[in-house]
Amino acid sequence: MSEIIIRNLSEESMEETVKFISSCQTVDESFIAWLGYSPEEIKSQLMNITPSFTESCLIAIDRGVICGFLGIYVSEEQSVLRLLGPYVSTQKSWTEIALKLLSVFKAKIPKNINLAKVAFYDANVNCKRVYEANYFNVYNAEKTLIMDKKSLISALEVSSQKINVRYYKSSDFDDFIKLHPRTAYFTGPEVISRLNQYNQLIVAEADNHVIGYVYFEMLISDGYAEICFLNVSSEFRSRGIGSQLINRVIIEAFKYDWVNHIQISVRVNNKEAERLYTRIGFEEKNVIIALQRDLKVYPWGDFT
Ligand SMILES: CC(C)(COP(=O)(O)OP(=O)(O)OC[C@H]1O[C@@H](n2cnc3c(N)ncnc32)[C@H](O)[C@@H]1OP(=O)(O)O)[C@@H](O)C(=O)NCCC(=O)NCCS
Repeated sequence: MSEIIIRNLSEESMEETVKFISSCQTVDESFIAWLGYSPEEIKSQLMNITPSFTESCLIAIDRGVICGFLGIYVSEEQSVLRLLGPYVSTQKSWTEIALKLLSVFKAKIPKNINLAKVAFYDANVNCKRVYEANYFNVYNAEKTLIMDKKSLISALEVSSQKINVRYYKSSDFDDFIKLHPRTAYFTGPEVISRLNQYNQLIVAEADNHVIGYVYFEMLISDGYAEICFLNVSSEFRSRGIGSQLINRVIIEAFKYDWVNHIQISVRVNNKEAERLYTRIGFEEKNVIIALQRDLKVYPWGDFT
C-alpha cells in the first residue's frame, strides 16, 4: 500500500484512465452510474466535467499502473456533488485505496454543497460497504430494464386520440420546464442544451400545450439508447400517451444500425411505469441503488 500514489488526473494519463474505468464499467460488481461504458464515451464525459477534469478527478497509481479512480461532478445549481467512483482494480487493497481517494477530496468540496450522491448496481458490494459505513444512506433504488432490438415486438400501438407526438421546438420550453422535475439529474435547461442528433426530446401535444415528453440519448460508442426522462402530466395519464412516447423512442433509436438495445431505469416502487415498460417488451436487467450523504450534518471528513 505504501507504494500507491494518489494524484490528479492529467492529460497524459487520460487514455489509460478511461480504459481502466471502462473495464470496471462492464462488470456489474464495479459498475458506477453516470459514467458510460466505452473509453470514448467516458473520455468525453470526463473532458466535459465541471470544474475541469484535472481538478475533479483523482487516480491511484501502483508501480506506474493505474489501480484506482474517483471523480466528482459538482452541480452548483442543485448544491449537489455526484461521486464517480471509487473504482479500484485490486480486491486486496480495495478499501484502503478507496478510502484514500475519498479522503483526498476533502479540500476540493465547495462549501455551498449540501449533498453528496453516488449510485451503483447492488452487486457492487465494495462500494455499498464503504459508503454505508460513512454516513451514506440509500435514498433510491431503480431497476434497469432493457429492450433488445432482436426481441422487438412489432405491435407498436397506435392510439386514436388526438395527441400529436413530435420533436421538441423552442416555443415548448415553458411547458416542458413545468413538467420536468426540479431534482432530476439534468435540469430542464441542461436537457435543452444537450439536444443534438443523438440526444432527442420528443413531446406529446394536446390543445397547443406539451402534456408529456420523453428525453433519450443514443450513445454511439456504447451501442445503445437510454431513456433518461419520461413524464406525462398527471391529468393526461392512462390514455396511452406514455406508451406512444416510448414507441416513438423505439422507432427513432432503432433507425440507427448501431443501437442494439434501449435502456431505461425505473424506481423499484414505481410499479405503474414498470408495468408500462414490461408490457411494451422491456425486460429487467439489474438494480441500481443510489446513496446520499447530508454534508450539512456530516461534513466531508475522514473516512473509515
Ligand atoms: C409513467 C408514466 C409516464 C406513464 O404515462 P401514461 O401516459 O399514463 O402511460 P400509458 O397511458 O401509456 O400507460 C399507463 C396505463 O394506461 C393504460 N392505457 C393505455 N392507453 C389507454 C387508454 N386509451 N385508455 C385507458 N387506459 C389506457 C395502459 O395499458 C397502462 O396500463 P398498465 O400500466 O396496466 O399497462 C406516467 O405515469 C408518469 O408521468 N409518471 C410520473 C413520472 C414517471 O414515473 N416517469 C417514469 C420514470 S421511469
